[in-house]
This record gives sequence, C-alpha cells and structure tokens, in this order.
Amino acid sequence: MNNHIAIAIDGPAAAGKSTVAKIVAHKLSYIYIDTGAMYRALTYKVLQEDVTLEDECAVGHVLHNTSIELVHGDQDQKILLDGRDVSMEIRGEQVTNHVSIVAKHRNVREEMVNRQRQLAKQRRVVMDGRDIGTHVIPDAEVKIFLIASVQERAERRHKENTVKGFPSNLEKLKEDIRKRDKIDSEREVSPLVKATDAIEIDTTSLSIEEVANEILQVVYDIQGKEE
Ligand code: CDP
Ligand code: CDP
Repeated sequence: MNNHIAIAIDGPAAAGKSTVAKIVAHKLSYIYIDTGAMYRALTYKVLQEDVTLEDECAVGHVLHNTSIELVHGDQDQKILLDGRDVSMEIRGEQVTNHVSIVAKHRNVREEMVNRQRQLAKQRRVVMDGRDIGTHVIPDAEVKIFLIASVQERAERRHKENTVKGFPSNLEKLKEDIRKRDKIDSEREVSPLVKATDAIEIDTTSLSIEEVANEILQVVYDIQGKEE
C-alpha cells in the first residue's frame, strides 16, 4: 500500500478545510499542516511592528527574519512565532481582516511556499490552504477543493464564535468572508483557484464526518489501486 501520499485541501474561508484536514490526518496518522496559520502568524507580527501591510519589501524583510513553527501536539497544533506560542492571537479579528493583504505579496508567497514544500517533503501530509494543489504540492496524489455557500460558511463561523463566547455578527461575518475570498481569488500570485485535477466537494449540506469520509474514501481508492 502506498502510504506516502500527499493530500492537498484548498478552498475559500470557513469551508471546513482545517476541521476535516485534522480528522483525515488523524485517521491516516499523517501530519496536518495549516498553511493559513503561517500567513496569520506573519500578519500578527507585521501588525505589531511599525510596518505598512502594503509595503511588499518591508513585509518580505520581516518574514525573512521570522521563525514560524507548527508544533504537533496530541490534541491540537501550536503555532510558534519566533519561539512564542501565538495560536490564539492569530485567530483574532485584526489578523483575520488583514491577512489577505499580507498574503498577496509575491516575495511573501515565494518564501512561504518554499517553507511549506520543505514541510511536505516526506509526504504523509495533509496540507490545507488556498494554493496547495496548484502551487505548493502540484503533484499531490489527492487534491480536494472544498466549497460551501457564503451563508453557510458565515453561519458556521458565527456558531463557532458563539460557542466560544466571542462577540459575533452574522452579517459582518458574511461581508468579511466575501471580502477575503475576493482578495484571495483575484490576487496576481497563486490565487485561490481549483486545480484542474482537484475533486470539488460542496459541503453546504454535509456534516464534518461526511466530508472527512468522502476524502478518506478517495485516499483508500488510490492506495488500493497502487497496492
Ligand atoms: O481558516 P480561514 O479560512 O479563515 O483562513 P486560513 O486558512 O487561516 O487563511 C488565512 C488567509 O491566509 C487566507 O484568507 C489567505 O489570504 C491566506 N492564505 C493563502 O494565501 N494561502 C494559503 N495557502 C493559506 C492561506
Ligand atoms: O479551515 P476553514 O476556514 O476552511 O474552516 P474550518 O475552520 O475548518 O470550519 C469552520 C467551521 O465550520 C468550524 O466550526 C467547523 O466545525 C464547521 N464545519 C461544519 O459545520 N460542517 C462542515 N462540513 C465543516 C466544518
């Protein structure tokens, strides 16, 4: 059985990528790599420093001098920024609303993609993001593109916020998701787009388990074929 495959999961904001990617990785004993967390960590640092988000050169310079580590624990993954755990901070509204501006820069994407390719070198990874199947691991054996309606995605985030006790406004979430998707899809360098050989799954009316099982079935079919 080929147990050294790479699984790329892409799609717009809140489509369920990280939730199902973690389940799939756990079931296969693969490593899960959250590439969005890397862009979020950089954005967090840039916001803290006296750097203009739109200044490609300055932002690239920050990244060049920044260490971003994904530490895999039993329960969850920790994001270390220059050795400090920023897993919670990078999920805040400030970072969410600015990350797509930072992620547009060509120099930032080039360096991030290099780092992500290093992490995926050994295969046995489930990597989620926007450009994994198209740029980071274009030869991934399994490519999935998850979508869901904006309404459904905003409702999911709203529910998540409410459970966590965070303030949340459904209309504002819809607007923010639309805005981020637009920037991510229209940027010049490796925009959010479905790879031609990716399998699209519309998760609007699917449960987390149904989506994870669908992806696992694709993996088992491939492994079976290569036996
Ligand atoms: O989880 P959520 O969908 O809110 O976003 P994320 O996966 O944490 O990614 C945050 C942002 O990082 C995205 O909106 C993109 O701007 C950027 N990103 C990217 O450009 N390329 C990736 N491979 C992953 C994320
Ligand atoms: O990583 P991404 O931004 O694509 O989405 P996520 O953070 O994995 O999922 C956003 C929210 O939707 C989470 O609260 C998930 O539990 C929920 N979800 C869902 O309700 N149904 C699915 N099929 C997938 C995710």
